[in-house]
Amino acid sequence: MNRSSEANARPEMTSGGNGNDKGREADFVRLVRLSKAYQEGERRRVVLDGVSADFARGEFVALLGRSGSGKSTLLNLISGIDRPDAGQVWVAGRELTALGERERTLFRRRHIGFIFQFFNLIPTLTVIENVTLPLELEGARVNQAREDARPLLEAVGLLDRAGSWPDRLSGGEQQRVAIARALVHDPQLVLADEPTGNLDEESGRSVLALLDRLTRQAGKNLLMVTHSAESAALADRVYELHAGKLMAGSPENSVGAERRRGQGDEP
Ligand SMILES: Nc1ncnc2c1ncn2[C@@H]1O[C@H](COP(=O)(O)OP(=O)(O)O)[C@@H](O)[C@H]1O
Ligand SMILES: [Mg+2]
Repeated sequence: MNRSSEANARPEMTSGGNGNDKGREADFVRLVRLSKAYQEGERRRVVLDGVSADFARGEFVALLGRSGSGKSTLLNLISGIDRPDAGQVWVAGRELTALGERERTLFRRRHIGFIFQFFNLIPTLTVIENVTLPLELEGARVNQAREDARPLLEAVGLLDRAGSWPDRLSGGEQQRVAIARALVHDPQLVLADEPTGNLDEESGRSVLALLDRLTRQAGKNLLMVTHSAESAALADRVYELHAGKLMAGSPENSVGAERRRGQGDEP
């Protein structure tokens, strides 16, 4: 499922020493001293203050932080929707921050999938039309796009709802459609902004399991903003945004660590 063209397009970058590890290239995403401030009347509010991090290929990274700490801002910088005041974003060996608006849009359409808290499905399009939209934006023909979308709708368990309108679906089902839409063009990088934040516990759990299966277990990168300890516990790494800085979360305190200890991993 991985696009070899991405790996081939990747120029030499610093190696974390695991460059030969299949499916776990170092530095698939590189954030270099990212800064972003917003003007609020007379005041400048610094949201990101020199954020640096490297994510290896195939990693599932959870991003925590209280409301207003800049989590969505950071995702928007990584996807190229927004631009930093200073610093660089690299994805798959391309420096997004060096691209113009149009090139960034094209890069995003090809290589990045985005999942939102409130699903953001288009209400006037059916389920399958929502899912095929990214392919059609890329110039795919309608019939081909539908062929390509069917296996994904099946994977999210909604093939039988292909012709439904989004507002006929439950929140959990809508989010599963949004996941299919985010993955239909087979992006290596998937960004999810509180994808379970608007779901009841049970739907949230099933959406999380589905996301994990279709991204990390498929060798993709997932960067997920979340408030849920359960979500963070599934991640390979946990980061927290605080006062403009990105800090490594403490895995020994995570639910995942507790669970691992519970399974006899006690240090
Ligand atoms: N376009 C904008 N203009 C001005 N301020 C903004 C803008 N986007 C975000 N902010 C401010 O930046 C801060 C971080 O916002 P955000 O990234 O949405 O936080 P989070 O997702 O962690 O809740 C907040 O104080 C927010 O009000
Ligand atoms: Mg947010």
